[in-house]
Amino acid sequence: MLSAILALLAASLAEAAPTSAAQQILSQADVSKIGKQEDIFPYLAGSAPHFSYPLSYGIPKDVPEQCTLQQVQLFARHGERYPTQSVGSKIASTYYKLGNYSSDLSGALSFINNDYEFFVQDANNFEELTTWDNILDPINPYVGEWDAQKHAREFLYQYEELLGNKTSFPIFTSNSKRVHDTAKFFGKALGDKYNISLQIIDEDPSSGANTLTPIDSCTVYNETEKAAVYSKFTDKYLTDIAHRLNDENKGLNLTKSDATNLFSWCAYEINVKGYSNVCDVFTADELTYFAYYDDLTSYYYHGPGNSLGPTVGSVNFNASLELLKQHEQLDNKAWLSFTHDTNIVNYLGSIGIFDPGHAMPVDYVPIKDHIYHKSWMVPQGARVYTQLYQCSNQSYVRYVVNDVVIPVEKCSSGPGFSCELNSFIDYAQSRMNGSNYVSACKINSSSNQTSLTFYWDYEQKQYNASLIHK
Ligand SMILES: *[C@@H]1O[C@H](CO)[C@@H](O)[C@H](O)[C@H]1NC(C)=O
Ligand SMILES: *[C@@H]1O[C@H](CO)[C@@H](O)[C@H](O)[C@H]1NC(C)=O
Ligand SMILES: *[C@@H]1O[C@H](CO)[C@@H](O)[C@H](O)[C@H]1NC(C)=O
Ligand SMILES: *[C@@H]1O[C@H](CO)[C@@H](O)[C@H](O)[C@H]1NC(C)=O
Ligand SMILES: *[C@@H]1O[C@H](CO)[C@@H](O)[C@H](O)[C@H]1NC(C)=O
Ligand SMILES: *[C@@H]1O[C@H](CO)[C@@H](O)[C@H](O)[C@H]1NC(C)=O
Ligand SMILES: *[C@@H]1O[C@H](CO)[C@@H](O)[C@H](O)[C@H]1NC(C)=O
Ligand SMILES: *[C@@H]1O[C@H](CO)[C@@H](O)[C@H](O)[C@H]1NC(C)=O
Ligand SMILES: *[C@@H]1O[C@H](CO)[C@@H](O)[C@H](O)[C@H]1NC(C)=O
Ligand SMILES: *[C@@H]1O[C@H](CO)[C@@H](O)[C@H](O)[C@H]1NC(C)=O
Ligand SMILES: *[C@@H]1O[C@H](CO)[C@@H](O)[C@H](O)[C@H]1NC(C)=O
Repeated sequence: MLSAILALLAASLAEAAPTSAAQQILSQADVSKIGKQEDIFPYLAGSAPHFSYPLSYGIPKDVPEQCTLQQVQLFARHGERYPTQSVGSKIASTYYKLGNYSSDLSGALSFINNDYEFFVQDANNFEELTTWDNILDPINPYVGEWDAQKHAREFLYQYEELLGNKTSFPIFTSNSKRVHDTAKFFGKALGDKYNISLQIIDEDPSSGANTLTPIDSCTVYNETEKAAVYSKFTDKYLTDIAHRLNDENKGLNLTKSDATNLFSWCAYEINVKGYSNVCDVFTADELTYFAYYDDLTSYYYHGPGNSLGPTVGSVNFNASLELLKQHEQLDNKAWLSFTHDTNIVNYLGSIGIFDPGHAMPVDYVPIKDHIYHKSWMVPQGARVYTQLYQCSNQSYVRYVVNDVVIPVEKCSSGPGFSCELNSFIDYAQSRMNGSNYVSACKINSSSNQTSLTFYWDYEQKQYNASLIHK
């Protein structure tokens, strides 16, 4: 089914296939809308462009005065991208329903009548980072390539002192092409002064625990184990959207699935064009229901609500803890890793800074008691920093997630709401106590690699897995 739709899409686009970036510029782009939709990015399930964590208590992300950085770790997501093949095909199937509608569309969908051009002009762009070469409007400010470059410059601004006299260092990336490309653009944007070796770590299950994507090696992992719980959440907001659009357009038979596809269409079109008219379809309440459903499913698929979520995340949290403990011995002081949102969600679930500590409710949207906002944690271009710094004779740890300090709440009495290193080690060990990734995930069935070693053996191994399009 999906491949049939893809073939149709490829065929229908072939005539108009662009041969150069310049030809891709949309003739009908409404440039006045570009940059005007940022208020809704937090509601779009982490598929819209990057944004900073929306809630801050005003704690500066720079290390407190009188303290000096000792180490920084980054766990980052790839930048803005096109939809995956699977989501892209679903969006296209909804687009075709509109394109094949017998008369002009009315109401919120009427923009389609005005020579609307579908935002995926080339099926080869599915899965890819958005870059200056594949976007549809040169003033789109949300290009994944540019996001990585800006992030690199901000990184230098805040952390360059840690690089010290060291101009050669590694950047770790999974071998997914869009993740790799993000790491590559980030590395290049650090400037010629730096000689980066990209260490490309295989996502294949044969990597076992020695990976940035340990969920892939966990072949017993069951994302939908809590389906009986989250499927109780209302889908009325989806039927409302479909009914409203069908009422405006008699005979247009949009379904709940089409309504879901419209949210993805809205988000990914912004990554490509800088704006999307589809976003105007939704009411504020519908956006909130959609965002919470995404939080719920993330929590039960990959977060603390899944029986193996934090266990899988402990692979990277344990390695992070080890890097912190060895900060004096290790020559490298900046440990930069790029991967996918799912892996960061697993990792954050092990750390616990967004763990609500109780099962997330499915019978209402908890507006006030709600810490687990998935899109706030892992928007496109997400960046989770672990800072280690010294103040007088003590070392302290804290997290900065998408530019905002997120304290380990019960261990935050250090300067800048940080946690003293030895207390942090105790905290981390108690969080991971009982997690045994290797046995729980039956890693021996696919791999003999039972611990994460790449941060320590990359100089000998020179990881260089072939890139994959997923
Ligand atoms: C109508 O739908 C078919 C696929 O079912 C698609 O190939 C075609 O491009 C659509 N037409 C328009 C104008 O969207
Ligand atoms: C950089 O090199 C200078 C001179 O060799 C040395 O004094 C300084 O400690 C080095 N800085 C770092 C951060 O290694
Ligand atoms: C760059 O780093 C590589 C190791 O990754 C090293 O072999 C090479 O000599 C370095 N080049 C320069 C100019 O420092
Ligand atoms: C995952 O869990 C659900 C709910 O218990 C179950 O129905 C499903 O069969 C499981 N999937 C696998 C692959 O075990
Ligand atoms: C919508 O559904 C009705 C009733 O099922 C059907 O008669 C009509 O042809 C459908 N319209 C389209 C455009 O598919
Ligand atoms: C945690 O890290 C240590 C040190 O690298 C390693 O010996 C241990 O196997 C790791 N534990 C897990 C569960 O990965
Ligand atoms: C740090 O300094 C204080 C007072 O100068 C001292 O009491 C404490 O033991 C020192 N801590 C460490 C870890 O050296
Ligand atoms: C780990 O859990 C066991 C059993 O619950 C407990 O006895 C032990 O103190 C815990 N260890 C840490 C480091 O929290
Ligand atoms: C993996 O280990 C388990 C117990 O630890 C054992 O029962 C199983 O046979 C092992 N599987 C393989 C493929 O070695
Ligand atoms: C793990 O398996 C790989 C490939 O099967 C093999 O080359 C390697 O020697 C094994 N490593 C260990 C420590 O057994
Ligand atoms: C990785 O490096 C090894 C050793 O240099 C080489 O044999 C292998 O072909 C390389 N793999 C890729 C995918 O480049």
